[in-house]
Amino acid sequence: MEVVILDEAQEIAKKGATLVAELVAKKPHSVLGLATGGTPVQLYKHLIALYQQGQISFNQVQSFNLDEYLGIASSNPLSYRHFMNSCFFEHIDVKLENTHLPDCSPANPREEGPRYEQQIKAAGGIDLQILGIGSNGHIGFNEPSSSLASRTRIKTLAQSTIEDNSKLLKPGEFQPHLAITMGIGTILEARRILLLALGEHKAEAVQAAIEGPVTAMCPASALQLHPHVTVVSDAAAASQLELADYYRWVYRENEELKKEYGNFYELDIYG
Ligand code: PGA
Repeated sequence: MEVVILDEAQEIAKKGATLVAELVAKKPHSVLGLATGGTPVQLYKHLIALYQQGQISFNQVQSFNLDEYLGIASSNPLSYRHFMNSCFFEHIDVKLENTHLPDCSPANPREEGPRYEQQIKAAGGIDLQILGIGSNGHIGFNEPSSSLASRTRIKTLAQSTIEDNSKLLKPGEFQPHLAITMGIGTILEARRILLLALGEHKAEAVQAAIEGPVTAMCPASALQLHPHVTVVSDAAAASQLELADYYRWVYRENEELKKEYGNFYELDIYG
């Protein structure tokens, strides 16, 4: 796992945006896996700025979001469809019909997971999956105890997740307890994964994910099984990492090598 510890949230967003921009430049018809929540907002802002400067086009890009609440209308401001449209899609040249989220009010919720998986497959699979991490170690809405082989399906949110997310709601606002989320098995099929972590409240989860055992109790620890994961974290979220000094050293060394040789160690995954 590549672990990048940066001081400023802006630098983290920029690093993430650069990875996305490099991918889309190499492969204009890339399939992006996207995330909601507070963490990726600045990354989306950077990508919007790159688009406005004419440095990137999403014209041929397809996207699949990790998850969506179940049982609300997509026009509901709480829905992740609404979040993605207003935070990102409406400000770039992506074709809205190429942006996908699980259907939040499907005729048959149990059929939605397999349908979504089929759509991902038909698009050629996800080239780069962007992830946040829950303070309980979840990725998507795969809460602790989720099967490491899980596929897109309905999940009941953990109480800690409901509490974390309630901070974004107005008092008394309805909060869904159910969601449709890509499974851990689904996420692990992405060709490359970028996990962003911000803030001290993520420190324990980040440590468990990177340095702990692979366990369903910390769903993000399943990323240790993936060959091409980059974690970009601020110093607060990295504060419990045992090998933080080592990750910083490796990063500095790699930056030097990159200046001399370019991204020689990048896997040729963009085909
Ligand atoms: P956050 O959520 O970005 O709002 O912290 C991350 C997550 O729960 O995956």
